[in-house]
Amino acid sequence: MGILDGKRILVTGVLTDASIAFSVAKLAQEEGATVVLTGFGRLSLVERIARRLPQPAPVLELDVQNTEHLDTLAARVGEHVDGLDGVVHSIGFAPQTALGGNFLNTTWEDVSTALHVSTYSFKSLAVACLPLMKEGGAVVGLDFDATKAWPVYDWMGVAKAGLESASRYLARDLGKQGIRVNLVAAGPLRTMAAKSIPGFKEFEDSWPEKAPLGWDLSDTVPAAKACVALMSDWFPATTGEIVHVDGGVHAIGA
Ligand SMILES: NC(=O)c1ccc[n+]([C@@H]2O[C@H](COP(=O)([O-])OP(=O)(O)OC[C@H]3O[C@@H](n4cnc5c(N)ncnc54)[C@H](O)[C@@H]3O)[C@@H](O)[C@H]2O)c1
Repeated sequence: MGILDGKRILVTGVLTDASIAFSVAKLAQEEGATVVLTGFGRLSLVERIARRLPQPAPVLELDVQNTEHLDTLAARVGEHVDGLDGVVHSIGFAPQTALGGNFLNTTWEDVSTALHVSTYSFKSLAVACLPLMKEGGAVVGLDFDATKAWPVYDWMGVAKAGLESASRYLARDLGKQGIRVNLVAAGPLRTMAAKSIPGFKEFEDSWPEKAPLGWDLSDTVPAAKACVALMSDWFPATTGEIVHVDGGVHAIGA
């Protein structure tokens, strides 16, 4: 018996086997779910990574900036599963100029790309999947604590603050349909997205020291477990919530 037995889950954001989404897809399958993946851009790479999952999973193309991809998503997912019980948004991107301490000089064009891909897409993805969620379900997104101004995170931090707010509004508007919307605020993890942040090492050096529970920068399993738990039947009355999976750093001063 797994906690996702019989559930049908769409997982976005697999790029490498270090992706948080890869761990979510793996654990979801181990817990009994049928998983469909979406990939962005390098689809053959995503398909290769998908072959490392315990069971085969179809990979569908999804660029969250592409309206046609979003409009056809439900029909394309529907070719593989007859509905969805869970949707995982594990997508983030900001142009280099929006990261790394250049906050005062970033153009609106670059900021808007970061917000489109990392914030607005949470809403776009949820709405695109609604036709397949007639029996309710759960939407989970990946967050980085946006209550503080961090070193180097810059406009991605603003995008995450927007994600936190969008998650609460989605929870408000989708609750009547029995859809729960929650975020997992993970500590820093060595993924492709993290490596693209100039100065990410600042997080790497301090986080394990600050975390009451300690923190392993290469272990995506704790964050993935929280995503899987939130899609299970064990959080039936939780929505608009942010679960911190950061070793406890968010709770500690200084
Ligand atoms: N790595 C960390 O330290 C950390 C910490 C907290 C939260 N997060 C969040 O976790 C999520 C997943 O990131 P990750 O760290 O696993 O890195 P990752 O690089 O493995 O995943 C990021 C994903 O976003 C996808 N993506 C980028 N632009 C896209 C677009 N236009 N359309 C569709 N997909 C697109 C990429 O293809 C990739 O699969 C992101 O939201 C990230 O902000 C990461």
